[in-house]
Amino acid sequence: MRDTLSDRFRFLRAFVAHPRQVGAVLPTSRWAVRDMLDLADLGRAGLVVELGAGTGVQTGEVLARLGPGARLVSLEIDPGLAALLEGRYDDPRLTVVCDSAEKLAAHLGGERADVLVCVLPFTSFDAGLRRRVLDLLPAALAPGGVLLVLQYSPFIRGELRRRFASVQQTITPWNVPPAFVYACRADPA
Ligand SMILES: C[S@@+](CC[C@H](N)C(=O)[O-])C[C@H]1O[C@@H](n2cnc3c(N)ncnc32)[C@H](O)[C@@H]1O
Repeated sequence: MRDTLSDRFRFLRAFVAHPRQVGAVLPTSRWAVRDMLDLADLGRAGLVVELGAGTGVQTGEVLARLGPGARLVSLEIDPGLAALLEGRYDDPRLTVVCDSAEKLAAHLGGERADVLVCVLPFTSFDAGLRRRVLDLLPAALAPGGVLLVLQYSPFIRGELRRRFASVQQTITPWNVPPAFVYACRADPA
């Protein structure tokens, strides 16, 4: 899993340019990424979708856990970060899309994800954008699928509970700041 000084600098630069869009000054720590991805069985997933890929801390670890015939679609709205991802991973299973998570359905062409990995800055989104993105998540999941969400506050928990029958929360302290991680499923636990 890569998290180099130069990645941190690029991430910080993206934050300075668009603070509300990036929502954090540092990429997620490798420990928090592992805690988050451990909540899903990526080895059995056929299609994984990532929303807000940043410098790719989840991207690389998802690819490491995916099976050979599986696919990962990573959406990132910042063109500089999307280009970084595109150049970094020479893996035919990965498709990088530079677009907003709001356009997710258009990029899935009717397919649904077994695992959705979401590290979007919901707390700094305006209310309309937050609602539009949250509303499209349940329909983007395949039956039996799981949505993984990482946030820096529990603010989003109620919104997730309104949309998913099962919302499991863990807190990973090995991150600055400590991260709240949610695993959400359509079926009750
Ligand atoms: C908190 S950062 C997380 C980055 C990375 N996943 C990590 O954990 O370090 C949020 C990322 O979401 C991206 N982003 C913000 N709004 C977005 C949107 N509407 N659609 C897709 N990506 C978005 C930002 O550019 C940023 O890279």
